[in-house]
Amino acid sequence: MSENSPLAGLLAGKKGLIVGVANQNSIAWGCALALRAAGMELAFTYQGEVMRDRVTRTVSDLGDVPLYDLDVRDDAQMASMFDDLREKWGRLDFVLHSVAFAPKPAMANPFIETAREDFLVAQDISAYSLVALSRAAAPLMPEGGSIVTMTYYGSQKAVPGYNVMGVAKASLEACVRYLAVDLGQRGIRINAVSAGAINTLAARGVAHFRDLMRITAERSPLKRTVESEEVGRTCLFLASDLSTGITGETMYVDAGFNITAG
Ligand SMILES: NC(=O)c1ccc[n+]([C@@H]2O[C@H](COP(=O)([O-])OP(=O)(O)OC[C@H]3O[C@@H](n4cnc5c(N)ncnc54)[C@H](O)[C@@H]3O)[C@@H](O)[C@H]2O)c1
Repeated sequence: MSENSPLAGLLAGKKGLIVGVANQNSIAWGCALALRAAGMELAFTYQGEVMRDRVTRTVSDLGDVPLYDLDVRDDAQMASMFDDLREKWGRLDFVLHSVAFAPKPAMANPFIETAREDFLVAQDISAYSLVALSRAAAPLMPEGGSIVTMTYYGSQKAVPGYNVMGVAKASLEACVRYLAVDLGQRGIRINAVSAGAINTLAARGVAHFRDLMRITAERSPLKRTVESEEVGRTCLFLASDLSTGITGETMYVDAGFNITAG
């Protein structure tokens, strides 16, 4: 987005937390670039020491930004991050939740073989974490705010290889609707963006992912896959006052793939 874009300055003065950047291919990074270009001040998280250097390098493009170690399963770590943000910024206007994980066997084996423990891990990291994050962030949004999460069409249809993650995304989208009801009275909106297939670190854990990219490009009305920048601009819209009437929704940014018959 150029400095002359009508969107530049749209989010000036707003402060946002981005959870889910692993590297420059991450959808969360595409969102961060769009939000930043529109003037939002950003803080980021990384998932443990293993990810720290990579995420630090990625976000360094944006200068000196607050960076927190956060495993979304760790409530104490989450609480201390929000305490620190409250001290630093006093408030928060936006949170992006762009996090998902399922153990390898659950993604590789037929769905019927999913172990109870693997099912629970997928639900915990990919769906419950949105509830925990929203609950912890809401007190920092006394004048309202916006929360966005990332989902995928495998929540609605049985997409080959998406398995336990499809079930977790169905749960995530339902969480968005119930959270929207609880947060609405506080002026906080929450929405999901259902992105089309994008080649990222997490996507490589999905069997037949390259086939999925190819089929999407062939079948979608726009005859292509989407870029994380396009997801980012929708995220910008949902973070901004352009979308004040929208909450509890799942918005598709998938070149129209979801409206076609298989
Ligand atoms: N890539 C796609 O095709 C696609 C399509 C639709 C939706 N999505 C969703 O977008 C989101 C981002 O994924 P991505 O494709 O950008 O991949 P990515 O690998 O770049 O991002 C996934 C992020 O989840 C984080 N994460 C996993 N477990 C975590 C934990 N316990 N605590 C904290 N962070 C944790 C990882 O560190 C990583 O930053 C996910 O929810 C994914 O399901 C991806």
